[in-house]
Amino acid sequence: MKISVCGKGGSGKSTIVALLANEARARDYRVLVVDSDESNSGLFRMLGFDYPPVPLMELVGGKKSLQQKMAQPSVLSETQIATAHIPEQYLLQKNGLKLVAIGKILQSLEGCACPMGVLSREFLKKLALEADELAIVDMEAGVEHFGRGVETSIDSVLIVVEPPLESVNVGQKIHDLASGIGVKNVWAILNKVPSDEIATRLKTELQERHIEVVGCIYFDADIFRSSLEGRMPAKGVAVREIKDVLERILSRAGLPASG
Ligand SMILES: Nc1ncnc2c1ncn2[C@@H]1O[C@H](COP(=O)(O)OP(=O)(O)OP(=O)(O)O)[C@@H](O)[C@H]1O
Ligand SMILES: [Mg+2]
Repeated sequence: MKISVCGKGGSGKSTIVALLANEARARDYRVLVVDSDESNSGLFRMLGFDYPPVPLMELVGGKKSLQQKMAQPSVLSETQIATAHIPEQYLLQKNGLKLVAIGKILQSLEGCACPMGVLSREFLKKLALEADELAIVDMEAGVEHFGRGVETSIDSVLIVVEPPLESVNVGQKIHDLASGIGVKNVWAILNKVPSDEIATRLKTELQERHIEVVGCIYFDADIFRSSLEGRMPAKGVAVREIKDVLERILSRAGLPASG
Protein backbone atom coordinates (compact mmCIF):
# COMPACT_ATOMS: atom_id res chain seq x y z
CA MET A 1 0.00 0.00 0.00
CA LYS A 2 1.16 3.50 -0.82
CA ILE A 3 -0.34 5.93 1.66
CA SER A 4 0.13 9.65 1.48
CA VAL A 5 -0.23 11.75 4.63
CA CYS A 6 -1.64 15.17 3.78
CA GLY A 7 -3.11 18.19 5.54
CA LYS A 8 -2.75 21.81 6.41
CA GLY A 9 0.67 23.16 7.40
CA GLY A 10 1.60 22.23 10.96
CA SER A 11 -1.37 19.87 11.46
CA GLY A 12 1.01 17.03 12.37
CA LYS A 13 1.67 15.22 9.07
CA SER A 14 5.30 14.38 9.84
CA THR A 15 4.39 13.34 13.38
CA ILE A 16 1.68 10.99 12.10
CA VAL A 17 4.09 9.61 9.44
CA ALA A 18 6.66 8.82 12.14
CA LEU A 19 4.05 7.27 14.46
CA LEU A 20 2.60 5.12 11.66
CA ALA A 21 6.03 4.07 10.40
CA ASN A 22 7.15 2.92 13.85
CA GLU A 23 3.90 1.07 14.48
CA ALA A 24 4.00 -0.62 11.06
CA ARG A 25 7.59 -1.77 11.80
CA ALA A 26 6.42 -3.15 15.14
CA ARG A 27 3.87 -5.19 13.15
CA ASP A 28 6.63 -6.61 10.93
CA TYR A 29 5.73 -4.61 7.86
CA ARG A 30 8.68 -3.40 5.84
CA VAL A 31 8.35 0.36 5.73
CA LEU A 32 9.63 2.87 3.23
CA VAL A 33 9.06 6.48 4.25
CA VAL A 34 9.13 8.90 1.34
CA ASP A 35 9.90 12.49 2.30
CA SER A 36 8.10 14.49 -0.35
CA ASP A 37 8.08 17.80 1.52
CA GLU A 38 10.45 20.18 -0.25
CA SER A 39 10.46 22.76 2.58
CA ASN A 40 10.87 21.00 5.92
CA SER A 41 13.94 18.90 6.53
CA GLY A 42 13.48 17.41 10.01
CA LEU A 43 11.72 14.12 9.18
CA PHE A 44 14.94 12.06 9.29
CA ARG A 45 15.50 13.08 12.92
CA MET A 46 11.91 12.22 13.88
CA LEU A 47 12.51 8.74 12.44
CA GLY A 48 15.68 8.27 14.51
CA PHE A 49 18.28 8.92 11.80
CA ASP A 50 21.30 11.16 12.50
CA TYR A 51 21.49 12.70 9.04
CA PRO A 52 19.18 12.95 6.00
CA PRO A 53 19.47 10.76 2.90
CA VAL A 54 20.93 12.27 -0.27
CA PRO A 55 17.77 13.48 -2.08
CA LEU A 56 16.72 11.57 -5.19
CA MET A 57 16.85 14.93 -6.97
CA GLU A 58 20.67 14.57 -6.85
CA LEU A 59 20.40 11.23 -8.62
CA VAL A 60 18.97 13.05 -11.61
CA GLY A 61 21.58 15.80 -11.44
CA GLY A 62 19.48 18.51 -9.78
CA LYS A 63 16.33 20.35 -10.76
CA LYS A 64 17.58 21.88 -14.00
CA SER A 65 18.37 18.65 -15.78
CA LEU A 66 15.47 16.62 -14.40
CA GLN A 67 13.58 16.14 -17.65
CA GLN A 68 16.57 14.85 -19.66
CA LYS A 69 18.09 12.87 -16.83
CA MET A 70 14.91 10.95 -15.98
CA ALA A 71 15.33 9.27 -19.35
CA GLN A 72 19.05 8.47 -18.90
CA PRO A 73 20.05 5.12 -17.44
CA SER A 74 19.65 5.10 -13.65
CA VAL A 75 17.26 3.41 -11.29
CA LEU A 76 14.82 6.27 -11.97
CA SER A 77 14.64 5.49 -15.69
CA GLU A 78 13.45 1.93 -15.00
CA THR A 79 9.75 1.26 -15.51
CA GLN A 80 9.52 -0.18 -11.98
CA ILE A 81 11.61 0.61 -8.92
CA ALA A 82 11.94 -1.94 -6.14
CA THR A 83 13.10 -0.59 -2.78
CA ALA A 84 16.07 -2.97 -2.93
CA HIS A 85 17.28 -1.27 -6.13
CA ILE A 86 17.49 2.25 -4.73
CA PRO A 87 21.22 3.08 -4.42
CA GLU A 88 22.55 3.02 -0.88
CA GLN A 89 23.32 6.71 -0.39
CA TYR A 90 19.75 7.67 -1.31
CA LEU A 91 18.15 5.17 1.06
CA LEU A 92 18.77 5.34 4.80
CA GLN A 93 17.98 2.21 6.81
CA LYS A 94 17.65 1.62 10.54
CA ASN A 95 15.88 -1.23 12.33
CA GLY A 96 14.09 -2.17 9.12
CA LEU A 97 12.81 1.35 8.55
CA LYS A 98 13.86 2.98 5.28
CA LEU A 99 13.81 6.63 4.27
CA VAL A 100 14.19 8.37 0.91
CA ALA A 101 13.81 12.09 0.24
CA ILE A 102 12.78 13.67 -3.04
CA GLY A 103 14.53 17.04 -2.64
CA LYS A 104 14.57 20.31 -0.73
CA ILE A 105 14.48 23.96 -1.68
CA LEU A 106 17.81 25.20 -0.31
CA GLN A 107 18.45 28.59 -1.89
CA SER A 108 16.43 31.69 -2.56
CA LEU A 109 15.68 32.37 -6.23
CA GLU A 110 16.45 28.75 -7.17
CA GLY A 111 13.09 28.49 -8.91
CA CYS A 112 9.83 26.78 -8.02
CA ALA A 113 9.42 23.30 -6.61
CA CYS A 114 7.56 21.88 -9.64
CA PRO A 115 10.45 19.59 -10.70
CA MET A 116 10.28 17.98 -7.27
CA GLY A 117 6.57 17.40 -7.77
CA VAL A 118 7.38 15.70 -11.09
CA LEU A 119 10.04 13.54 -9.45
CA SER A 120 7.71 12.62 -6.55
CA ARG A 121 4.97 11.67 -8.98
CA GLU A 122 7.26 9.58 -11.21
CA PHE A 123 9.06 7.91 -8.31
CA LEU A 124 5.80 6.94 -6.58
CA LYS A 125 4.33 5.71 -9.85
CA LYS A 126 7.31 3.43 -10.53
CA LEU A 127 7.76 2.29 -6.94
CA ALA A 128 6.88 -1.42 -6.87
CA LEU A 129 6.15 -2.71 -3.37
CA GLU A 130 6.15 -6.25 -2.02
CA ALA A 131 3.01 -7.50 -0.22
CA ASP A 132 4.56 -6.90 3.20
CA GLU A 133 5.84 -3.46 2.31
CA LEU A 134 4.19 -0.12 3.07
CA ALA A 135 5.23 3.22 1.58
CA ILE A 136 4.25 6.15 3.77
CA VAL A 137 4.61 9.54 2.10
CA ASP A 138 5.12 12.75 4.08
CA MET A 139 3.50 15.24 1.76
CA GLU A 140 4.06 18.98 1.59
CA ALA A 141 1.40 21.11 3.32
CA GLY A 142 -1.77 22.09 1.52
CA VAL A 143 -3.08 20.96 -1.86
CA GLU A 144 -0.54 22.01 -4.50
CA HIS A 145 0.75 18.44 -4.84
CA PHE A 146 -2.63 17.45 -6.28
CA GLY A 147 -2.11 20.02 -9.03
CA ARG A 148 1.20 18.31 -9.79
CA GLY A 149 -0.43 14.88 -9.90
CA VAL A 150 1.73 13.43 -7.12
CA GLU A 151 -1.17 11.26 -5.90
CA THR A 152 -1.91 9.57 -9.24
CA SER A 153 -0.44 6.25 -8.10
CA ILE A 154 -1.31 6.51 -4.42
CA ASP A 155 -3.97 4.11 -3.15
CA SER A 156 -4.70 5.75 0.17
CA VAL A 157 -4.71 9.34 1.40
CA LEU A 158 -4.74 10.06 5.11
CA ILE A 159 -5.75 13.63 5.93
CA VAL A 160 -4.48 15.02 9.23
CA VAL A 161 -7.05 17.37 10.75
CA GLU A 162 -6.50 19.46 13.85
CA PRO A 163 -9.11 21.63 15.62
CA PRO A 164 -9.08 24.97 13.69
CA LEU A 165 -11.89 25.11 11.11
CA GLU A 166 -9.35 26.06 8.46
CA SER A 167 -7.73 22.65 8.91
CA VAL A 168 -11.14 20.99 8.36
CA ASN A 169 -11.66 23.11 5.24
CA VAL A 170 -8.25 22.14 3.80
CA GLY A 171 -9.13 18.54 4.73
CA GLN A 172 -12.33 18.76 2.70
CA LYS A 173 -10.46 20.15 -0.29
CA ILE A 174 -7.93 17.31 -0.08
CA HIS A 175 -10.76 14.78 0.25
CA ASP A 176 -12.52 16.15 -2.84
CA LEU A 177 -9.31 16.33 -4.91
CA ALA A 178 -8.19 12.83 -3.89
CA SER A 179 -11.64 11.32 -4.55
CA GLY A 180 -11.78 13.23 -7.85
CA ILE A 181 -8.63 11.55 -9.18
CA GLY A 182 -9.89 8.15 -8.07
CA VAL A 183 -7.80 7.50 -4.94
CA LYS A 184 -9.32 4.33 -3.50
CA ASN A 185 -9.23 5.18 0.19
CA VAL A 186 -9.50 8.67 1.61
CA TRP A 187 -9.61 8.94 5.40
CA ALA A 188 -9.10 11.59 8.05
CA ILE A 189 -7.22 11.30 11.32
CA LEU A 190 -7.82 13.86 14.07
CA ASN A 191 -4.69 15.22 15.71
CA LYS A 192 -3.74 17.43 18.66
CA VAL A 193 -7.24 16.96 20.07
CA PRO A 194 -7.48 18.53 23.55
CA SER A 195 -10.70 16.88 24.83
CA ASP A 196 -13.44 14.33 24.07
CA GLU A 197 -15.83 17.20 23.42
CA ILE A 198 -13.61 18.65 20.67
CA ALA A 199 -13.08 15.13 19.24
CA THR A 200 -16.85 14.68 18.92
CA ARG A 201 -17.30 18.11 17.35
CA LEU A 202 -14.50 17.52 14.84
CA LYS A 203 -15.88 14.07 13.95
CA THR A 204 -19.32 15.59 13.36
CA GLU A 205 -17.83 18.32 11.13
CA LEU A 206 -16.06 15.66 9.05
CA GLN A 207 -19.00 13.26 8.91
CA GLU A 208 -21.21 16.08 7.63
CA ARG A 209 -18.65 16.46 4.84
CA HIS A 210 -18.76 12.69 4.17
CA ILE A 211 -15.16 12.18 5.30
CA GLU A 212 -14.48 8.95 7.16
CA VAL A 213 -12.47 9.34 10.37
CA VAL A 214 -10.13 6.42 11.11
CA GLY A 215 -8.74 7.64 14.40
CA CYS A 216 -7.94 10.32 16.88
CA ILE A 217 -4.62 11.35 18.43
CA TYR A 218 -5.00 13.56 21.49
CA PHE A 219 -2.68 16.45 22.25
CA ASP A 220 0.37 14.70 23.69
CA ALA A 221 2.75 16.80 25.81
CA ASP A 222 5.55 14.22 25.27
CA ILE A 223 5.37 14.72 21.51
CA PHE A 224 5.39 18.47 21.87
CA ARG A 225 8.34 18.38 24.29
CA SER A 226 10.37 15.98 22.09
CA SER A 227 9.77 18.23 19.07
CA LEU A 228 12.07 20.78 20.71
CA GLU A 229 14.89 18.37 19.87
CA GLY A 230 13.25 17.39 16.59
CA ARG A 231 12.72 13.86 17.89
CA MET A 232 9.74 11.62 18.60
CA PRO A 233 9.10 9.94 21.95
CA ALA A 234 9.40 6.14 21.92
CA LYS A 235 6.33 5.75 24.13
CA GLY A 236 3.38 7.77 25.39
CA VAL A 237 -0.30 8.30 24.71
CA ALA A 238 0.03 8.94 20.97
CA VAL A 239 2.23 5.86 20.48
CA ARG A 240 -0.58 3.80 22.04
CA GLU A 241 -3.36 5.58 20.13
CA ILE A 242 -1.72 5.03 16.74
CA LYS A 243 -1.99 1.24 17.20
CA ASP A 244 -5.77 1.34 16.74
CA VAL A 245 -5.45 3.77 13.85
CA LEU A 246 -3.05 1.55 11.90
CA GLU A 247 -5.15 -1.53 12.65
CA ARG A 248 -8.19 0.23 11.21
CA ILE A 249 -6.27 1.44 8.14
CA LEU A 250 -4.89 -2.03 7.41
CA SER A 251 -8.28 -3.63 7.84
CA ARG A 252 -10.03 -1.03 5.62
CA ALA A 253 -7.32 -1.56 2.98
CA GLY A 254 -7.79 -5.35 3.18
CA LEU A 255 -4.27 -5.95 4.52
CA PRO A 256 -3.30 -8.32 7.34
CA ALA A 257 -2.80 -6.88 10.84
CA SER A 258 0.90 -7.75 10.59
CA GLY A 259 3.32 -7.97 7.69
N1 LIG B 1 -0.64 14.86 18.84
C1 LIG B 1 0.20 15.86 19.09
N2 LIG B 1 0.32 16.35 20.35
C2 LIG B 1 1.14 17.40 20.61
N3 LIG B 1 1.88 18.03 19.70
C3 LIG B 1 1.80 17.59 18.44
C4 LIG B 1 0.96 16.48 18.06
N4 LIG B 1 1.12 16.27 16.72
C5 LIG B 1 2.00 17.19 16.30
N5 LIG B 1 2.41 17.97 17.31
C6 LIG B 1 3.34 19.11 17.26
O1 LIG B 1 2.87 20.04 16.29
C7 LIG B 1 3.97 20.60 15.59
C8 LIG B 1 3.80 20.36 14.10
O2 LIG B 1 3.86 18.96 13.85
P1 LIG B 1 4.45 18.38 12.50
O3 LIG B 1 5.78 18.96 12.21
O4 LIG B 1 4.32 16.91 12.55
O5 LIG B 1 3.39 19.00 11.49
P2 LIG B 1 3.44 19.01 9.89
O6 LIG B 1 2.02 18.96 9.44
O7 LIG B 1 4.35 17.95 9.40
O8 LIG B 1 4.04 20.45 9.63
P3 LIG B 1 4.56 21.01 8.20
O9 LIG B 1 3.31 21.39 7.44
O10 LIG B 1 5.37 22.20 8.60
O11 LIG B 1 5.33 19.91 7.53
C9 LIG B 1 5.23 19.97 16.18
O12 LIG B 1 5.73 20.79 17.20
C10 LIG B 1 4.70 18.67 16.78
O13 LIG B 1 5.50 18.19 17.84
MG1 LIG C 1 6.03 18.08 8.13
